Amino acid sequence: MTENVKMPTHVAIIMDGNGRWAKREKVNRLAGHNQGMFAMKEIIKKADVMGIKYLTVYAFSTENWKRSQEEVGGIFNILVKFVASELKELSDNNVKVHILGDYTQRVPEAAINSIDKAKKVTENNTGLMFNIALNYGSRTEIVRAVKDLAEDVKNGILTPEDIDDEKISERLYTGQENGNIPDPDLIIRTSGELRLSNFLLWQSAYSELAFTDSLWPEFTPEEFEKIVMEFTNRNRRFGGREGKI
Ligand code: FPP
Repeated sequence: MTENVKMPTHVAIIMDGNGRWAKREKVNRLAGHNQGMFAMKEIIKKADVMGIKYLTVYAFSTENWKRSQEEVGGIFNILVKFVASELKELSDNNVKVHILGDYTQRVPEAAINSIDKAKKVTENNTGLMFNIALNYGSRTEIVRAVKDLAEDVKNGILTPEDIDDEKISERLYTGQENGNIPDPDLIIRTSGELRLSNFLLWQSAYSELAFTDSLWPEFTPEEFEKIVMEFTNRNRRFGGREGKI
């Protein structure tokens, strides 16, 4: 099935449509997020079986704080529940959990504790790296990196001329602090919305994008596999070109 094809190393997903799914199914929004958590579990397993090395999901953005307290609290409770029920299996499958984003700020203590536990238990694992973007915003991430570099210039550690793509990449959440995660080869967004919504803006410079009308809670491992296999047929040129004029 996946032999002799160039699989993506890193797939990132904007898990969108939990609310619309809930509305359609006449249940509350948290039931939609809960169903979204089940969908996420299945996609992690599928990505692992397919040999994908990095899977990143957009779970909670810096903009999501604008939602009701009840919804925000509920999403973090779902995260706590996810870690409690899945950590053993994730670890047995050699999955390593990372967080992209400032998860120690504003996030409820129970969720911080769960995350710290998941990170600690899986830190020496060498299989699929599962990155949860949490309290994540790409512009915040870039501003943080630029401030960090400016500090180094101020302190004489770097000169402005030293600053290049690599130096900026190193200071992002996907950089040194999380083991230099390669840029995503493929970004998938569910629910029919055609935008990136402040997700991996720097890292997506050459990513292939895939959009599906499926709402996240109904997104299946089969559809995930189909999108990934379609990706393997794309011709990525990274700004270059092929063949003669
Ligand atoms: C977007 O749907 C989804 C979210 C903001 C939350 C994603 C959360 C999960 C999938 C729960 C499990 C995962 C973790 C790690 C907590 P939406 O609510 O914006 O949907 P809508 O646009 O249809 O309203």
